Amino acid sequence: MKLVLASKNAHKLVELRDILSQLGVEVVLESDVGVDVEVEETGATFEENAYLKAHAVCEAAGLPAIADDSGLCVDALNGAPGVYSARYGGPGLDDEGRYRLLLENLRGQLDRRGKFVSAICCCFPNGDKVEARGECPGTIAYAPRGEGGFGYDPVFFVPELKKTFAQLTAEEKNAISHRGKALNKFKTELEKYFNGTDQ
Ligand code: IMP
Repeated sequence: MKLVLASKNAHKLVELRDILSQLGVEVVLESDVGVDVEVEETGATFEENAYLKAHAVCEAAGLPAIADDSGLCVDALNGAPGVYSARYGGPGLDDEGRYRLLLENLRGQLDRRGKFVSAICCCFPNGDKVEARGECPGTIAYAPRGEGGFGYDPVFFVPELKKTFAQLTAEEKNAISHRGKALNKFKTELEKYFNGTDQ
């Protein structure tokens, strides 16, 4: 089966493809099927935004489409940056600017707890959808560490491993990450969907 990936985030794309290749599905890019969809992420939840993206690409391509919406929720900031993780601090900031702003907003804060969340939604041309959610708890470090990954990885510390996400190999990160967990659940849900619908 062919799934169109509704994402333009190159790093996320690599992680998604890595895990989805185990599902026996062929993942193609929007550009591979001649569509280029700009979706405004107006949802209040990760689930709503994943649906908005997958639905728009599915409609445009006439093929099943999968989207991931993800972000970092910090307890002491009442869940921020949350669904605004990619836009935290406004359009002038890059990844490093955003995680530095986060550290600044947590200056003096001893409660460093947070979690990464990933919501995956796959929309089918017949209107069906398959969804899954994954979470990875951790803490926000006091300073960045590590060179790998993307986004907030250098400041997201996993206490069990005593490392930030940016200090993990792609394999190590996929094994515990929000997206890795969501994709594994998604795999199960997709299998159930196929068994129930004979596709
Ligand atoms: P999305 O593309 O709208 O889902 O935005 C996700 C944003 O959340 C990214 O731009 C990152 O800032 C952040 N994010 C999501 N997953 C990760 C991750 O695995 N590591 C670091 N940052 C992440």
